[in-house]
Amino acid sequence: MDKTAEIIIDGKSYRYPVVVGTEQESGIDISQLRAQSGHITLDDGYGNTGACRSNITFIDGEKGVLRYRGIPIEEVAEKSTFVETAYLIIWGKLPNQAELRRFSDLLTENSMLHEDMKQQFEAFPANAHPMAILSSMINASSCFYPELLTSEMKPTFDLQSARLISQVRTIAAFAYRTSRGLPIIYAKPDYKYTANFLHMMFSHPLKDYELDPAAVKALDLIFLLHADHEQNCSTSTVRMVASSRANMFASCAAGVCALWGPLHGGANQAVLEMLDTIHKSGDDGSKFIEAAKDKNSGKRLMGFGHRVYKNYDPRAKIIKKACDDVLEKLKISDPLLDIAKKLEETALKESYFIERKLYPNVDFYSGIIMRALNIPVEMFTVLFAIGRMPGWIANFKEVMEDPSARINRPRQIYTGPALKHYVPMKDRK
Ligand code: ACO
Repeated sequence: MDKTAEIIIDGKSYRYPVVVGTEQESGIDISQLRAQSGHITLDDGYGNTGACRSNITFIDGEKGVLRYRGIPIEEVAEKSTFVETAYLIIWGKLPNQAELRRFSDLLTENSMLHEDMKQQFEAFPANAHPMAILSSMINASSCFYPELLTSEMKPTFDLQSARLISQVRTIAAFAYRTSRGLPIIYAKPDYKYTANFLHMMFSHPLKDYELDPAAVKALDLIFLLHADHEQNCSTSTVRMVASSRANMFASCAAGVCALWGPLHGGANQAVLEMLDTIHKSGDDGSKFIEAAKDKNSGKRLMGFGHRVYKNYDPRAKIIKKACDDVLEKLKISDPLLDIAKKLEETALKESYFIERKLYPNVDFYSGIIMRALNIPVEMFTVLFAIGRMPGWIANFKEVMEDPSARINRPRQIYTGPALKHYVPMKDRK
């Protein structure tokens, strides 16, 4: 028999269906609650609110499980590439050879930005944060594709998705190069996605950047591990914007803005800055751990804790190993890695972190890999955005294809003043 939940308000009982997902996670469907009882639910930070049904990504935060379209992240990380994973996430299945070839070709063909966009990069101040440039330029690029402005998305969806995934990488590299006063480098048709990003970032017009397979592999893994993570802050933002029927570029540009904050994607930059500060202060991490436990210190152990994971983030496990591997292959010894390991070891033994179930998240070690690849720290969150693009696009697609989708419009409990009247200027104190 289907389960129901009973809510009793002022002695009156209301019954609501319990919706059960593939993995037996369940939620109470209260969509009729206000109409029937006059009440709404209040859930600060949405920790108990399911905003949608989705078939893209599954997370079991208690067990530390993450699956893309049903496939465990460990398998995807070991066997796939970022481009193949992007296809899996967006179209819901692993591509066959022809499908993958077509998608890769679309990425290559659409890597160039419209020539007129180049001047816009120069209009930003040299110290502009690349996340600001990224969101502005993704939004601006929609102006060059009038087909985006039609409400019928289907005929051009494949092209627009490939264009966005390809161009976010071009915009990121151009933003970096203009901020350094370096000439722009275009993608090479014979390079794969991640190799091309490193080429566009670091080649010189007269000399190509020497691609190290270990570096390419490590960066591809970072993109892949960030490709989707169900209803996090930025993805929910993308869905929120898409629910108004805004176009794919506008919706994903909003996702970039949401990702920027240090409690979300900006944490990878914040982790590196924290490790650097600890290193420069001569602390081995113990003093910082003490400060992170003290609410009045204003400090948090960045890269630790997660709204959903109350266990080790499975991506952090994979990335920690990749970090050791790539540093060894590139023959780099980084004191910040030693500090990170010491912080993790100490925190995992501390009752403060144990009781609150705070474990390293994906951002704890990713910054050390990016630093080893000479990616400047202000670009870290941009790389997260490149990786997350397939997830945003897949969620955008889900919203657009849902025949019952409504505009997202939460309610509130108003706590402002009760009825007051307008006071003319002469009578105001
Ligand atoms: N360091 C110290 N204490 C922490 C940390 C931390 N990193 N994270 C959480 N806590 C404490 C809180 O102070 C709180 O303590 P209390 O119960 O005594 O008040 C308790 O743990 C619960 O924390 P909340 O902030 O309520 O948890 P929430 O789910 O709202 O936040 C978040 C999750 C934002 C990730 C938080 O753990 C955090 O700020 N971490 C550091 C930033 C970070 O690494 N963000 C990246 C997240 S992953 C991603 O976006 C890719």
